Amino acid sequence: VTADAGPATRVTPYTYSAGRLRLLDQRRLPHEEVFLECESAAQTAEAIRGLAVRGAPLIGVAAAYGLCAEARRVAARVPDDLDVAFALGAERLVSARPTAVNLSWAVGRMRAAFEATLGGGAGERVLRLEEEAHRIAEEDRLACLAIGRLGAAWLQGRWMGVSGVPAVLTHCNAGALATAGIGTALGIVRVLAAEGPLAILAGETRPFLQGARLTAWELRHDGLDVTLLPDVAAASLIARGRVQGVVVGADRIAANGDVANKVGTYGLALACRAHGVPFVVAAPTTTIDLLAPDGASIPIEERAASEVVSLSLPGGGSVSLAPDGVSALYPAFDVTPGALVDAIVTERGISSPPHAVAFARLLSR
Ligand code: MRU
Repeated sequence: VTADAGPATRVTPYTYSAGRLRLLDQRRLPHEEVFLECESAAQTAEAIRGLAVRGAPLIGVAAAYGLCAEARRVAARVPDDLDVAFALGAERLVSARPTAVNLSWAVGRMRAAFEATLGGGAGERVLRLEEEAHRIAEEDRLACLAIGRLGAAWLQGRWMGVSGVPAVLTHCNAGALATAGIGTALGIVRVLAAEGPLAILAGETRPFLQGARLTAWELRHDGLDVTLLPDVAAASLIARGRVQGVVVGADRIAANGDVANKVGTYGLALACRAHGVPFVVAAPTTTIDLLAPDGASIPIEERAASEVVSLSLPGGGSVSLAPDGVSALYPAFDVTPGALVDAIVTERGISSPPHAVAFARLLSR
């Protein structure tokens, strides 16, 4: 038994070896488990933009390995181009998606690691980059375990004296398919499920269906039962006492505790507050952006209308869900005011409102 033993997962969302990053193509789940090969920063950025890989911490990890792949490729061919290729690759990766701060954070760490190798041989510089990417991934794996334990204990405290099997609802996918470990929100769910009876509810998360396709797949893959809800059913189930806690992840948390996460999160938080149900956000401290004073300063990704008005089919092609010519508005994330978030669970501890005060304490540790 190692010091960090705890709930594990059999999900492998990526592998990296000697310049080859293989990403489990999440667009093909749950029908097919196919890996996408990335041997450059450009290919990795395209995989991130196109949602082959997604989830805030995991796109940071993928970007870090994408830079390793880029560096190895260039070092083997034209070592003199290494600095320019790295800089261009880093820029491309950062701009692949705007909302999750973990992406620019991870690229920032890789940039600093690369700068520290200036003057070294190309081969040696690539090895240093690979070490840094492994460190980023390992830190995220450990953060997920800590978040899982802390968040589960917090919810169990809130459930003391409540009879029956508690039901916890999650939205989108903040699991092993979104991190380098057992997940943030699903880390908490995994610990709770390991410690006692638990009903796990997942919102389907229209239109990319992260809940239906990804959360349901990963929990089943690990032998956990999950019940899927149409997103529109959540508020009434919360009102009727059928949900004892909502646990979600985050893409960026502002200095005042406002949380950007998958669109639909804000509505869940409102319903929880209206009916006295705990609303929990689980995220590593790398998701906290102290440079964003509040939610209004977080860039919210708008994705193409085509992702709403048509449905991609597993065998290729798509089917139209609306009359031809109808447009759609698709902000992919929303902002939940920090005051509605009862607990922000990080690997360093738990913040409760007012979060700005709690962050100062947590981040100084
Ligand atoms: O568009 P996605 O699928 O990348 O959105 C993901 C989320 O909203 C997650 O909740 C968030 O990234 C946290 S993942 C641990």
